[in-house]
Amino acid sequence: MALREILIWPDPRLKQKAKPVGEVDAKIRKLCDDMAETMYDANGVGLAAPQVGVHLNVIAMDVDQRPAAEGEEPKKKGEGLFWLIDPVLKVADGEFTYTEGCLSIPDEYEEVTRFGHIVVEYTDRDGRRKQKEATNTLLSVCVQHEMDHLQGKLFVDHLSALKRELIRRRMKKLKSQREAERRGEATAL
Ligand code: NI
Repeated sequence: MALREILIWPDPRLKQKAKPVGEVDAKIRKLCDDMAETMYDANGVGLAAPQVGVHLNVIAMDVDQRPAAEGEEPKKKGEGLFWLIDPVLKVADGEFTYTEGCLSIPDEYEEVTRFGHIVVEYTDRDGRRKQKEATNTLLSVCVQHEMDHLQGKLFVDHLSALKRELIRRRMKKLKSQREAERRGEATAL
């Protein structure tokens, strides 16, 4: 497994639509494993392939990383991990509002309203077609957020133009700071 670089918005590659995978081969399984490692390394609950510059319909997800409640067995890292390849929403209704963030937009969190109840059909890492159902949970939010990435859409596209512009400015500043650090220059705040 290898870490891949996560693209930071704004980046034209994040606006590009991903393509269907079809058959799951060794190359796709390698992508799945790299994406999982990259997601955990960045403390994320979901990661879509376009975020690492690969325009294929592949999503890595683990929404079950929260600390265990009292009397509950703590979840091991990777226990809640799964992949959605070529996902399709079969059912989408109701409404649910949740405060979202994104690994491609670090440290920005905003409320987004999406469908509350979903049924998603997808291919898993072993190439089997499966379904998952979720209602008003982090899972229902995350599936829709990551499927947006496959369409070149980010959570900021659900916000007002004003909010999006403020976040865009902060991200551009963050990117130029990181660039300067990479070149070894001193960072003047
Ligand atoms: Ni995201």
